[in-house]
Amino acid sequence: MTKKDKNIFKASWSYDEAPESTDHVQIKKQYDLYIDGKFTKPIKGKYFASYSPSDNKEIAKVAEATQEDVDKAVKAANRAFKSWSELPGKERGKYIFRIARLIQERAREFSVIESLDGGKPIRESRDIDIPLAANHFFYYAGWADKLEYAFPNRKPKPVGVAGQIIPWNFPLLMAAWKLAPALATGNTVVLKPAETTPLTALKLAEIIHESGIPKGVVNIITGAGETGAAIVNHPNVDKIAFTGSTGVGKYIQKATAGTNKKLTLELGGKGANIIFEDAAIDQAVEGIVNAIFFNQGHVCCAGSRLFVQESVADVVIEKLKRRMETLIVGNPLDKNTDIGAINSKKQLQTIESYIKIGLNEGGEIYQPDCKLPKNGNWCAPTLFINVSQSHRIVQEEIFGPVLAIQTFRTIDEVVEKANNTPFGLSAGVWTEKGSKIFHMTQKLNAGVVWANTFNKFDATSPFGGYKESGFGREGGLHGLKPYVKFE
Ligand code: NAI
Ligand code: MG
Repeated sequence: MTKKDKNIFKASWSYDEAPESTDHVQIKKQYDLYIDGKFTKPIKGKYFASYSPSDNKEIAKVAEATQEDVDKAVKAANRAFKSWSELPGKERGKYIFRIARLIQERAREFSVIESLDGGKPIRESRDIDIPLAANHFFYYAGWADKLEYAFPNRKPKPVGVAGQIIPWNFPLLMAAWKLAPALATGNTVVLKPAETTPLTALKLAEIIHESGIPKGVVNIITGAGETGAAIVNHPNVDKIAFTGSTGVGKYIQKATAGTNKKLTLELGGKGANIIFEDAAIDQAVEGIVNAIFFNQGHVCCAGSRLFVQESVADVVIEKLKRRMETLIVGNPLDKNTDIGAINSKKQLQTIESYIKIGLNEGGEIYQPDCKLPKNGNWCAPTLFINVSQSHRIVQEEIFGPVLAIQTFRTIDEVVEKANNTPFGLSAGVWTEKGSKIFHMTQKLNAGVVWANTFNKFDATSPFGGYKESGFGREGGLHGLKPYVKFE
């Protein structure tokens, strides 16, 4: 695209600032651990800060739970288990419905805190993360008294104490994915949010407290990897649910091997987004943008590998570049923002190092002419062409707004390329032909295959991976299964 073209875009796409107000938001200076129905000080008295990635200023301090605190939380969960698991499902459901409604009532506050603490655009936290989190609680509240229909002629029993460890890309939503099915099936929980984004989980602890749920049923503790490891290794935890990096997932699988702990792992991905020549091209371009730039690309199921059929490659790439010129990178709290801040300095370094790797390997880069704010962690939306299957940026998860584009000629070729990855979480297919969609969904090794859309989530629909993307399903009827056992 010429410089003149770019300037035309800039001139016709300027917006006034439209910041979401923050005066209705209550954030404490310091948070304790939510254990046994009370906010309690960490035994060793240590705290660490959570920052706003858009300016790297401290927002609040949170407690660092050590092994002793984890033990306290697990004991509380153990004590609460008997009466909670014996409560009729209908009664358990009432608490879960209450949590869902309280999230809805406080949705704006949750959205602002999510965007402040994690850097995602307010449009996404407001329209996607928070409503979906409430949906998960509503959906699983409905199952609480219907478990015998979910598992007909079997007597589902809760597993016990669930240890749940979640990442920083969808903090509240991942908490909902973990807590809702566990509670509906009668388990008690120790949950740990990620160290860079603990604040919505702590707000959720306040709401859970307000719901009047019996003490010890839900315990929410903060800390980093060591705290997570203490949960994984605690002998009285009966089930581990983990979402995060493949590296930590492998460690957890080793740590739980040979124990009685049930395990589900939702790990990384390198999703293939496949555009056939008969696709509706403009919609597909929007789909590409949504697949890779949604949530700054911090999405395990992101469509980070684009495959375009050769006959339409030039037009798709040109339209994509033009569309990228219009993306607004900046203040997460501004309603115009399309791409917010990168979640942490560490993650920004990872992304930048992958961009260097891409260049060193001979890839051709394109970034729009966007102004990045001075402070904070920012990365322009990026695409690479002239890359092939063996390039590291094609094989490895970057977890940022970086797209690797390849072309293909035949269906067999694109199936082969799309499946040639250690991961197997998501894929997308764009074509006007229904039979091609069905053919592709059978051939692609991915837990989710979207057709003529991307990154769509629903509480009723199972989600999970194959190969190094992990195992087990969350969401839908399938999401109940990891939390029950049969006699
Ligand atoms: P991470 O896997 O280290 O963090 C995820 C969660 O695991 C956090 O709550 C963390 O405190 C906890 N954790 C860390 N070490 C642990 C251990 N030894 N035992 C138990 N829990 C532990 O992810 P990180 O380092 O923040 O991100 C690195 C890369 O991981 C990203 O660049 C991305 O590629 C991938 N990732 C994938 C996610 C997904 O949704 N699949 C989410 C987050 C990261
Ligand atoms: Mg933070």
